[in-house]
Amino acid sequence: MNFYEVIKTRRSVRSFKPDPIPDAVLQHVLNAARIAPSGGNRQPTRFILTRDEQRKKQLVPLCNGQSFISQAPVVVTACGQDIRGNRGGYMGKLSMLVDVAVAFDHLTLAARAEGLGTCWIGSFDNAGIKQFLKIPDDFQVVALTPLGYPEGDPFIETTDRLPLDQLVCEEEWHL
Ligand SMILES: Cc1cc2nc3c(=O)[nH]c(=O)nc-3n(C[C@H](O)[C@H](O)[C@H](O)COP(=O)(O)O)c2cc1C
Repeated sequence: MNFYEVIKTRRSVRSFKPDPIPDAVLQHVLNAARIAPSGGNRQPTRFILTRDEQRKKQLVPLCNGQSFISQAPVVVTACGQDIRGNRGGYMGKLSMLVDVAVAFDHLTLAARAEGLGTCWIGSFDNAGIKQFLKIPDDFQVVALTPLGYPEGDPFIETTDRLPLDQLVCEEEWHL
């Protein structure tokens, strides 16, 4: 699939078939996240896969009741370690958010290329998920996503984005 087609048709998927993901496909998707760049190549991102039906359901209240996540055969939780860097001079402990977001975006785009749906979940209980997944203290949960084959055909090109002339300016700010 053409790279730009992947980007244009990656949409948030909130309805999934129970069909399992073949191991080779899952490995492709996880590898796309693995090879993502990170500041100083520190690689602070880690992923936890939840496949057990009961445990997926237990994640739902920790994601503020977003029940569709448990429909997918896999729920991916991305977490990041404090990189003890001070990137940009102001981000401090949250510097790892950039690295985890880059890796997570690789994952969502690779998933789309494989015909899999994802939905970036940013609404969750960090402390509750850390406890449930036994994530160490120096890591924070950054995002989750269900991962699975979509019900229906949600991969429709998005139209609800700002036009470029409202995003980009030349030489100095004049938006
Ligand atoms: C950082 C972030 C957090 C998000 N959190 C949620 C969430 O908790 N639940 C949800 O259903 N969608 C969530 N989304 C999905 C957005 O609502 C969605 O990406 C946006 O409306 C654009 O739609 P599209 O992904 O289909 O192009 C999140 C997206 C991002 C990037």
